[in-house]
Amino acid sequence: MLDFAIFAVTFVVALIAAAFYLYPGSRKITTVPGPDSSDEKYGNIPDITKHGSMFEFLKAQHNKYGRIMSFWFYEQLVVSIYGPELFKECSALFDLPKRLFSLFQPLITEHSINLTNGAEARRRHKLYSKVLQNPTALRKYLDIINDECRRNSETLREVPEDEHISLLNSSIVLSSRMSYRLLFGFDKSAEEGRRLTENYRFIWDYLEKSLSPNFMQDTEQFERRKNEVHAAVKNSLENRVGKGDGLFVDVLLENVEEKEVQIADAVTMLVGGLHTTGTTITWALYFLMTNPRVKETLMREIFDVLGDDPIDFEKFNQLTYVKNVIKETLRLSKLATWSGRISNVEITLGGHKIPPNTPIMIANAVSHDSEEIWKDKDQFMPERFDENVEPFQFEPFGFAGKRKCPGHKLSMLEMTVSLTTLLRDFEWSLVPGHEKVGFKFGLVTIPDKEIWVTIKPRK
Ligand code: HEM
Repeated sequence: MLDFAIFAVTFVVALIAAAFYLYPGSRKITTVPGPDSSDEKYGNIPDITKHGSMFEFLKAQHNKYGRIMSFWFYEQLVVSIYGPELFKECSALFDLPKRLFSLFQPLITEHSINLTNGAEARRRHKLYSKVLQNPTALRKYLDIINDECRRNSETLREVPEDEHISLLNSSIVLSSRMSYRLLFGFDKSAEEGRRLTENYRFIWDYLEKSLSPNFMQDTEQFERRKNEVHAAVKNSLENRVGKGDGLFVDVLLENVEEKEVQIADAVTMLVGGLHTTGTTITWALYFLMTNPRVKETLMREIFDVLGDDPIDFEKFNQLTYVKNVIKETLRLSKLATWSGRISNVEITLGGHKIPPNTPIMIANAVSHDSEEIWKDKDQFMPERFDENVEPFQFEPFGFAGKRKCPGHKLSMLEMTVSLTTLLRDFEWSLVPGHEKVGFKFGLVTIPDKEIWVTIKPRK
């Protein structure tokens, strides 16, 4: 009898151990609530695919489990948080969870700052932030941005008034030419800007889709387009040697020795900048065309502050409504959907102990889309930024561990000047039948279809 009891207990214990081993969902190592893994190899990836995107999956899970929840990214348990209070709790963390960013490794390579942590990442982040943010540099960038916007308007004036333009393509051509010149000091022709835009749109779509287990790869085309972007960047670095007037490229060549790190960070900076800035300009123009009252207030500010004058720093500072329009665009479009952090020691979040080395997802877009945090969250209301938002309520550029986006000031300058110039120089109209556009969520949120517009030069 005793033998049987020992056998029965051993059997049950072995069964439980096997279940823990076989199903990662039951191997949970934290009290944070969340869904069980639905696939032994992929974890909750099939659920993310079913929801359509990481953002939509996170939103659904947060609705169910609250402001802190956990899920399985393949075999890895990830904790996701949203809301100012929880953001504050992780605001001292600097390191990024490489596992979550590995998706982008084929483009940026393992040498990229985005896949680097610790002292070396701090050194490079500080270096790049300084060159992109210091007031003297920003004054120099303003001249370049104004010049690129002027050139862009010249090209747009050639477009017949009845021609349908893809708003996203047109904005990304502008942002890619601006980024190229701001970072590398290189003039890109309109044709080169278009080629870079085409490559970037293919590459980004490919990487975002590669998260899905059913993804059909076209590796050859991806490699060809990626190599073209890398070759263009490499060429810009090589041709810069010997010069030096304090642009990003000069700081990079002077302070980073290894060639592969130079290229990786240059590609990261280029893609990180052109993609986000160009897409925000697209959304801002779209929201303005569909919100005539806001557009009217904005045009009044542009003509009152500027008249026909160029945009200098003093005028830039006075364009407060334009900046509110950009902030509201970043919020409503849920532009940058998430960022991440990791700690090599145990931390506490929302009262839960988080084991060391657990990736933490900062669900920024869930925060920006929360009715509890934003009144009338689906309305485009730039005026909401007239009032101070509370700390950590609005962080479209990240915040934690001083590892905020190094390009945040530069991109506000680029977006403000671009939007102002585009609206002062042209009347923008949606092509009839193309008024309804939805969101396609990835790491960056783009329109779910082309936004076709026509433009008419203002006299
Ligand atoms: C609308 C414009 C932009 C938005 C919304 C945006 C947003 C972000 C966010 C959320 C992060 C992650 C921060 C974190 O981990 O806490 C980030 C990182 C980064 N951004 Fe931006 N960004 C923008 C423009 C730019 C521009 C113009 C550049 C370059 C000129 C740039 C370069 C980078 C780089 C290199 C990183 C990675 C930094 C690191 O890993 O240390 N971004 N950005």
